[in-house]
Order: sequence, then C-alpha cells, then structure tokens
Amino acid sequence: MRNWHGERIWYGADYNPEQWPEETWAEDVELMRRAGVNLVSVGIFSWALLEPAPGRFEFGWLDRALDLLHDGGINVDLATATASPPPWLAHRHPETLPRRADGTILWPGGRQAYCPSSPVFRERSLALVEAVAGRYADHPAVVMWHVSNELGCHNVHCYCDVSAEAFRRWLRERYGDLDALNAAWGTAFWSQRYHDWAEVNPPRSAPTFANPTQQLDFLRFSSDEQRAQLRAEREVLTRLTTQPVTTNFMIGTGIKYLDYHSWAADVDLVSNDHYLTAADPQPQLGLALAADHTRGVAGGDPWLLMEHSTSAVNWQPRNVAKTPGQLRRNSLAHVARGADGVLFFQWRASRAGAEKFHSALVPHAGPDTKVFREVCRLGADLQALAEVRGSRVDADVAILFDYEAWWGAELDSHPSVDVTYADRLTALHGALWRAGVTADVVHPSTDLSRYRLVLVPTLYLVRDADADALRRYVEAGGSALVTYFSGIVDEHDHIRLGGYPGAFRDLLGVRTEEFFPLRAGESVRLDDGATADVWTEWLHAEGAEVLAAYADGPLPGVPALTRQAVGAGAAWYLGTRLDDAGTDRLVARLLTEAGVRPAATAPEGVEVVRRRSGDRSWLFVINHTDTEARLAVAGAELLGGGRCDGELVVSAGEVAVVREETRARPA
Ligand code: GAL
Ligand code: ZN
Repeated sequence: MRNWHGERIWYGADYNPEQWPEETWAEDVELMRRAGVNLVSVGIFSWALLEPAPGRFEFGWLDRALDLLHDGGINVDLATATASPPPWLAHRHPETLPRRADGTILWPGGRQAYCPSSPVFRERSLALVEAVAGRYADHPAVVMWHVSNELGCHNVHCYCDVSAEAFRRWLRERYGDLDALNAAWGTAFWSQRYHDWAEVNPPRSAPTFANPTQQLDFLRFSSDEQRAQLRAEREVLTRLTTQPVTTNFMIGTGIKYLDYHSWAADVDLVSNDHYLTAADPQPQLGLALAADHTRGVAGGDPWLLMEHSTSAVNWQPRNVAKTPGQLRRNSLAHVARGADGVLFFQWRASRAGAEKFHSALVPHAGPDTKVFREVCRLGADLQALAEVRGSRVDADVAILFDYEAWWGAELDSHPSVDVTYADRLTALHGALWRAGVTADVVHPSTDLSRYRLVLVPTLYLVRDADADALRRYVEAGGSALVTYFSGIVDEHDHIRLGGYPGAFRDLLGVRTEEFFPLRAGESVRLDDGATADVWTEWLHAEGAEVLAAYADGPLPGVPALTRQAVGAGAAWYLGTRLDDAGTDRLVARLLTEAGVRPAATAPEGVEVVRRRSGDRSWLFVINHTDTEARLAVAGAELLGGGRCDGELVVSAGEVAVVREETRARPA
C-alpha cells in the first residue's frame, strides 16, 4: 500500500481546464488559492483530447495545466483518463459498444459507452494509461492517481456476445464443469439443464423470470469485470509510478451492483462520491450511512471524499439547492465520519454539456456568491482541523452489509416487493444516528470482536462461515439483532431447509414455518404497543424468550420479537417491520443491554461523532436544527471559538469541533 497522507486535510474538486480557454486557468488557480484548495482531480474525461486518433497523443495542454497548478501550489490527483472512450473508438470498433438485456445498443454521445468485457477497450485504455503514467509519473504536482471514474456507473451490465463469452469463461472458472453449474443454478427446474457451455448466456430478456442463480452469478461476474479494469489500470500505474492509486467508489444506497467490499483490496486508499437525495427531508441521515459504509469498506482507515456537490445537482427530478450552511455541515459530517479529504464535483460550473446546471465551487455567477463564500470558509475550517487527519472514528456498533445479500434479496418472484435491502439498514442506522451512536457498516466476514453490538438487517443470503462467525461473536459475549428475511439462502440462492431464518435459526432459538407478508398499506399492532407493516411471519419460539407478539393482523399471539441468551451474549430476532418510533425503542434497548453510550448527550437533530488517535479525541457536533444547541463538553474549540468550559454552545445550523480534555471513552 502506498501512503497517501499529507500534512493536511485534502480540499478541492474535479478540475476540467479543457472546458475553458487558457486565459481562465490563471484565474482558476488564483481562486483555488483563495479558497484553500490543495488538490484537484484532472483529466478524468480527457481521452478524446489527449488521444485524438489511435496512438497519436497530444499532451501540450495538460502539460501547461499541470505546470500552472504546480506553480500555484495546487496538488493533482491525475486521472488515467479512461473514463469515457473517444468517439473514434466506437466508430472504428462498433463491437466495443455495450448492449442491454433486450439487445439495444448503447451508443456514444453520453459517456462510458463501452462494453466492460471488450478486449479492444481494454487494450486501448491500457495504452492510454501507459502514455499518461509514463509522461507524468515524475511531475511534481501529481500526488495521487485516479483510475477511470465511477467504474460501472452506466455500463455495469452488458449482454453483448463478447460479454456472453466472458461470462462463460468466468463460470468455467467458478464451477469447473457443467454439472457443478447445473447443480448451483438448480436447472432441474423449468427444463433448464445445460449440456454444452455454448448454451449458457447472460440473463437476457426472457419470457418470464430468469433463473435466479444465473442472475446472481451475472451480477457477480459484472462487478468482477469492472473490478478487472481497475486492477489492470492499477497494474500499469504500479509499474510506472510511485504515487498512491485510487478510484472513486459510489458507496450509498443508490448504487447496487459493484461489490466494493471486494474492490477495496485494489486501491491504496478508498475514495467515495456521495450526493444527497434532494427529495429526502433529512438527507444528512443518508450521508451518514454512506460515510459509515465507506469507512467500513476502508477497514476503519481514513478515506477520501472524492466528490460531492456544493449545492444542487442536475440529474435528479427536482434539483434542490443547499441552504446556507448546508455545504459546511455536509462536508464536516464526512470528516467526522473518517474522511481525510473533501473534494467536489466540480471546480467551475460548465458552460456547455449535460452538467451545466450542476453546482460547482465557482458558480456561473462567479465568486461573489453564497457558494464561493462558503467554499472559502470551508477551506479555512479544514486548515484548522489539520490535526484530526489520520485519526479513526469511534464505533462500538457494527451493521453487517453484503452486496450479494442485497442482490439476492431483491431478485424477482419473492414473497413481497416491499422487502428491500436498504429499508431496514436505513431504519436501524437512522435510529443509531438519532441516539448519537456511530456504527461501522462492514462486511459479514469482518472480525466482529471489537464491537459491543452487531445489527444484521435483511441478510437474505449468507455464507456458512459468516453465519458461524456471528454465532461465535454472540457466544463470546456480543449482542446481535437479526431482522426478517435474513439467513434464508446459501450463496447459490438455494433455500436453507428446515424453517426460516435458516442460517440463524439455532442462534436465535426460533423457527418460522410460513411468511405472512402484509397487503400494501396494511399494518399490525404488537402487544407492547408498537405498530408494524409490510411483513409478518408464523414464528415459533424454540428456546428464545418472546418479548412481543402480534396483537392483531393475520397472526394474533404469534411472536414478533424474541431474545435468546447464547453463551455470554444474546441474540435478538425481529420478525416484522417496526415503525420508526418502535425501531428507536428497540435500538435504545439493545444499546442499553450492550452498554453502548452515545458520543455525547445532544439535543434532537444534533449529530455527534468522535474521532480518536491514541489518547487524543475530537468531538464533532453538527447542529442540523434551527435553534441553538447546548452540550456538556470540555476542551478547545478548533472551529470558531476558543475554549469551552464544560458547556459547548453551537448556533443553529453551525458545526463545532472540540479537542477534548479527557478521554471520554467509557472504561
Ligand atoms: C458523478 C461523476 C461526475 C459527475 C457527477 C455529477 O457521478 O463522477 O463526473 O457526473 O456525478 O453529480
Ligand atoms: Zn459486452
């Protein structure tokens, strides 16, 4: 692993000088310096300019841009420029264009119009990486390499003949022979048995539900194909350069098909792009979840926020602008949750092209704007927070997350379309957020021993080893909560027989004989006063204590919430979809039992997170409300104030970061 840490927190944006006349560049650098920017990503979509014809490179403009940035003291995260192929590639090699499941060709004119399995694309893109890396390996501005851009954002699933052939190769590798594939795919069903590899295809548009294991394997294959591009580019960079290598992940509940837990091994640092869901009345919760997940992917290490927006984006139905102060709260929430750098898309708002209505650090209206003033303020904030860099985030709770479980849980022909993977993940994480408790969102294969509480939402697909690890964790004294539609299938999407929730039945001391999903809009009451909807199940407590049962609905008297003591720990099961109030109460109970305390006791709507390094700690307090907040905290205020003696006052919408006086961690 190449070390990416500097002396400061990185601050900057994607910078696309090729969209502007060179006269503008000098002003760009001047404004960057004014804003405290110290890192820009350059060249991400520059392929068509850098290589105007196959094998003919024109680096002059990029030489001048990098030199200018260097003279201005701005560092560069240099792109391999492979993100979007130039029009000549598809013109000469139409076979590189991707196809949808129904055979539709996706043409150039947008971006990322290439088949991820195309050997032609691979060859041409690596030739470009060789050329760029060879030329700029020793350029003094370059401190980091940026492979491609959001690999798989638009072209993750390609169903063309080239991809079909690659899929067959991948399957041969996985299964060895057709008998094993037939067994794994359960092809005795619906006359699907394969007798020749040539008969096997991606799950192209079919008259009805495609084989679920075929679908699942195609999703695995597709994530692996994108990852292969990352690995191939990194291999070139490793050979030719010395700077750390990253690529921007898209961790969040909106991007489903790239298994970033497996990709993390292929970068020197994890970086992530995150955009608020404008329609969400509390987008800070989704932001926190994405950041906690990014940190989980990074193994708890600091990570880099490669992109977010200063204000509105352009690609949602209604692109709500950020209110004054929101940019700062968003950015510092990422830092609180482990980001050692805050970058945006993009430096200067484009004048032309599909993203011209996307916000930037320098808006169309220029620097005399709310956005640019906030950008400058944030630059100063990040300088003041330099000492936080390299520290880790305190988290006593883990939430298990597995992309394969997500893919499996949301395949078609399931008991209820209302059961979605992100639903309980978001609900449980939201309850922790409201309780002031930070969680790491980690893969089930993570060592859980350092956590006091583990939450397991909708882990539909689970491997034996991961289910065993959860059992050992509980036996050793841990607390765990498993929610409905977990443990149902093995890695081939085959049901674990004997009653649900299969893999976790013994651990939880329950056995479900039948699912009873609810109708749209239908809800049930529990005998502890809670209400729930979407899902119920005919559950038998077989060893577990019943904490709540249904008071009405299809299954009156049947257990809905259970707890079983196991070894030195406890395993809880929730068989229904509690509303937010009920979820908050359940989570509060679990936190008490597990001895987990909030980072600080804070008023409602005030986000509190602690970073720590050795015996030093910093408390981030983000006031999302429109009233002043008061908290019991003692230490030096790194933002805004001097000292706070016992009581910290944070104005409405503001953020405070305090270097704490004493070790706040409970013994
Ligand atoms: C990201 C992408 C950027 C830009 C941005 C707009 O998906 O990496 O290039 O398109 O979104 O929000
Ligand atoms: Zn293809």
